[in-house]
Amino acid sequence: MHFSYSTMAAALALSGFALPGSTSAQEAPVEAAQAPGSADERAASMVVLMTLEEKLSLLKGFFGTDFPPAGFEAPDGARYGSAGYVPGVPRLGIPPQWQADAGIGVATQGGAAEKRARTALPSGLAVAASWDPQLAFAGGAMIGAEARADGFNVLLAGSVNLMREPRNGRNFEYAGEDPLLAGIIAGAAIAGVQSNRILATVKHFAVNDQETDRNDGNAILEEGALRMSDLLAFQIAIERGDPGAVMCAYNRVGGLYSCEHPFLLTQVLRGEWGYPGYVLSDWGAVHSTAAAANSGLDQESGFGLQRADWFNADKLRAAIQAGELAEEQVDLMAARILRSMFAHGLIDDLVSEGQPIDFAAHRAVSQQAAESGIVLLKNEGSLLPLGRETGRIALIGGHADKGVLSGGGSSQVYPDGGNAVPGLEPTTWPGPVVYYPSSPLEELRKLLPDATIEYADGTDHAAAARLAAASDIAIVMGTQWASESIDVELNLDGEQDALVEAVAAANPDTVVVLQTGGPVLMPWAGKVPAILEAWYPGRMGGAAIARVLTGAVNPSGHLPATFPDSLDQLPWPGAPRTGDLVYDEGATVGYEWFDANGHEPLFPFGHGLSYTSFAFDHLVAKRDGEGLVATVEVTNAGDRRGAEVVQLYLSGPAWDAPRRLGGFARVELEPGESKSVTIPIDPRLLADWVADRPGWTRAAGAYTVSAGRSSRELTDTVTIELPPSHLPPDWRPEG
Ligand code: BGC
Repeated sequence: MHFSYSTMAAALALSGFALPGSTSAQEAPVEAAQAPGSADERAASMVVLMTLEEKLSLLKGFFGTDFPPAGFEAPDGARYGSAGYVPGVPRLGIPPQWQADAGIGVATQGGAAEKRARTALPSGLAVAASWDPQLAFAGGAMIGAEARADGFNVLLAGSVNLMREPRNGRNFEYAGEDPLLAGIIAGAAIAGVQSNRILATVKHFAVNDQETDRNDGNAILEEGALRMSDLLAFQIAIERGDPGAVMCAYNRVGGLYSCEHPFLLTQVLRGEWGYPGYVLSDWGAVHSTAAAANSGLDQESGFGLQRADWFNADKLRAAIQAGELAEEQVDLMAARILRSMFAHGLIDDLVSEGQPIDFAAHRAVSQQAAESGIVLLKNEGSLLPLGRETGRIALIGGHADKGVLSGGGSSQVYPDGGNAVPGLEPTTWPGPVVYYPSSPLEELRKLLPDATIEYADGTDHAAAARLAAASDIAIVMGTQWASESIDVELNLDGEQDALVEAVAAANPDTVVVLQTGGPVLMPWAGKVPAILEAWYPGRMGGAAIARVLTGAVNPSGHLPATFPDSLDQLPWPGAPRTGDLVYDEGATVGYEWFDANGHEPLFPFGHGLSYTSFAFDHLVAKRDGEGLVATVEVTNAGDRRGAEVVQLYLSGPAWDAPRRLGGFARVELEPGESKSVTIPIDPRLLADWVADRPGWTRAAGAYTVSAGRSSRELTDTVTIELPPSHLPPDWRPEG
């Protein structure tokens, strides 16, 4: 990718604060922070009162904990075992920034001896599978409430990297392969966190789409493709969530490190998108002092890690003295940080540790999220739901007698009740492997009191097969553990594929329940009648799985990512690369790639079955400003209450892929009930970003809008003629 940086200066000016005339730092009372005004005004006034040392202190974030590395001691005031700490300026009433990882819940850093036991949501991908922004908001609000109660005011949440690589070990933290779905879900989660008057990030900006070589990997893709895929997901998440901070990523993009990238941080983020907040680095992701600061990085995170030392006060002062960094730039950096602190309540509504948490209410939020995100992939002969008359059930593998799996790394939440299966390898980074104490076995026994449910751990395939043969139904729990800093194989861990084969051969009525970080291959898919994808289902996962299996909950999740049938269907079938990551697929990510290349996936993007059935009628699309608005009637044609996700797919006259997601809505319906849903279609999704004419260009011609239950099950299509149009690079939706 060869970016033009010519608009840099203009963009810098655009993003600048109007700082009042330069009074030198002066004696100011602690009430200075309470002065009235907008967040911009308050930040600008505050910067004037600060000494250079005070401003520099805001630009440096410490690792919030005493490990790693050996010998590092977090400064006084840091919260034990947390991700980060930026001291405040007590003289002026500026509180510290206490940072916690919080994609899935308030996390404790892996090495901490004492864990902060908090409520874990299902994985980010599971929440995306609900296609329900309100639910994502509720989850974010729950996490934010726990963070506030723990004295954290900056949550490193809002993970929205696109699933270009289904083996990425962090896919479980993200929101899938489509920029619209991912952006809407992550944006809602961010808004939920921030509804607690604390600040959330969006991360990792940008194209941090695999963990292999994550510190140096160089994402290479053409600018238009970048704009229409990974950047669009961030743009939508920022528009909807208004995060106080953006975390720049470890990796390089087009040759430059993300945290010293003028195109990403200044031209696009601040200039075109008008982003008013600050940019903080991922932990140890900075590689320069003046270059990073001049490119748009405001705060370096992770001091205490060996490689995080670029924004220390000595280096910044030296850069100023050498004329490489203007002092005004330091003012601007400090002002952006303060502006977000003012705008999101950090200064007016101080956090404090040790506040009460309503764990029962928070577990209910987590359970609802899990129940809404579980996807029924296959249900031949309506084997599910399990009836109360089911006599003998064999439950096999996946530690289903004890709990449910979670993903590893910095987002790891330690559950109240502790790790249900301690000691599994790896026990140290990128581990430990943590199972939440919500046992599918116990929950199934509660819901099916008349059934005989026996458990086999699945290590002995022959014993598992014997139990299955002696039972009416067999359920195999298939697991795949994934974690930050590693990529994973696209299968269940260990010998579990063979276990499924053995059980299915012994009992044709075999159900497979998956707990995976993302898609997996299923060589046995044709041999089992029912498959349920439960992702990492969170603190109440056992209950959620049991309720879906028994029909207490009607499944309604839909896949936020394509499940390939084989590795050779992927744009990059080889093992994840190092060095130059040439994304030849461009913007045709996920289902767009599969559709454009005629690959038949195992399960397509958007797919998800229900115990009832739905019909779509009367699809209408009409122009609405620069975009479209579509209306469709959804009917629950079966005999159970259920929720359906109406998906709208668009096709354009000369697009690289046959269709893209244009909008969606989740609808709850009683049996026989119909509802008309109205779905707006963002004009950017009707356009392409064409490199030689920056902005969103729509060709004239016939566009189609289709309603579907998945990207491959379209039930109704309308065509609409559209004139050409062009939206400038800084176009933003109203509101
Ligand atoms: C991760 C970030 C995380 C940070 C702080 C990094 O290793 O990439 O997502 O927020 O650590 O824990």
